[in-house]
Amino acid sequence: MGISFDKVDGATWLKFEVHPATNAVSEADRTAKLKDPGFGRVFTDHMAIVRYNQTDGWHGARIESRANFPLDPAAAVLHYAQEIFEGLKAYVREDGGVNLFRPDANAKRFRNSADRMAMAPLPEAVFIEAVEQLVRIDRAWIPSGEGSLYLRPFMVASEIFLGVKPSAEYIFAVIASPVGSYFKGGPAPVSIWVSENYTRAAIGGTGAVKCGGNYAASLRAQAEAISHGCDQVVFLDAVERRYIEELGGMNIFFVFEDGSLLTPPLGTILPGITRDSIIALAKDKGTQVREEPYTLDQWRADAASGKLKEAFACGTAAVISPIGQVRSASGDFTINSGAAGPVAMGLRKQLVDIQYGRAPDPHNWIRKVL
Ligand SMILES: Cc1ncc(COP(=O)(O)O)c(C=O)c1O
Repeated sequence: MGISFDKVDGATWLKFEVHPATNAVSEADRTAKLKDPGFGRVFTDHMAIVRYNQTDGWHGARIESRANFPLDPAAAVLHYAQEIFEGLKAYVREDGGVNLFRPDANAKRFRNSADRMAMAPLPEAVFIEAVEQLVRIDRAWIPSGEGSLYLRPFMVASEIFLGVKPSAEYIFAVIASPVGSYFKGGPAPVSIWVSENYTRAAIGGTGAVKCGGNYAASLRAQAEAISHGCDQVVFLDAVERRYIEELGGMNIFFVFEDGSLLTPPLGTILPGITRDSIIALAKDKGTQVREEPYTLDQWRADAASGKLKEAFACGTAAVISPIGQVRSASGDFTINSGAAGPVAMGLRKQLVDIQYGRAPDPHNWIRKVL
């Protein structure tokens, strides 16, 4: 690809220079913002930032005020979308400490995303250190109760050059956004629209990585879902247009009358960390979990026959959302009479209890930051 990212693994750990914000929000303003933060609109005082170039490798690691950073109008990311990101959360425990949930898995996925997008790989230890430092300095911004601090690591191609080639320079940064409980009063079942006009990912494409372009390409389908009165879109495979893949930003599970679970196999979908955790928790209980293709027609037939008991979507933001209604150009159907089912709700509670440190952590998923 005409560029080699050496000097990367030498920098397995970088010392972050900490420059506390001089323009930090007052305590009164922060308290007001934390009352009802919603999702992704309120931000903390700081950010982590690390830069990459061919001469110095990863360097200049800093924790500093969250602020605009200059990007030249010719920066590669603005033209060819060489960009990746992650999403994970920090949770306040009952003892006042702070947990991160599987940050090593996000760091690894970020590295895989960088590889697929021909970007400089960020050492996993640097990713985790950046996240931890940001959580520590912005501890006051983490909502208590069922809220959490959503962390958004991302990397953009910053080389000033209009040629289509891997950028030689990158900016890695982490920002943080306090979020309230995703569903007030418990998870309400969502309705989903099956996209038969648009696909999300093809074999050999970028579906399995978290690059911004995947999300830009999903927006039209999501708009179509909303125009049909649905909350979310679910995509079918790009080849046969029959197999269920995933939602715009969540993986999907099906629950059958014999208690077994099925979820689409990895390949073109994002390997969700929530998906992986649910598979592990279900298997711990002796539940059979199949990672197998499942068609829309079969889904409809199983919902009609009663063989399918529940379906749910899962991801970091909402943890688990039961699916109540499925709508498509070829007809609508209801699952579990449109109500949240016991398997989805049980798994959700189990996972959330681990995340908040209220339950034992048999897989060592929790990383205590404070
Ligand atoms: C397309 C897509 N699928 C699945 C997921 C769920 O992944 P995770 O459980 O790691 O949040 C996400 C969210 O990150 C996503 O954007």
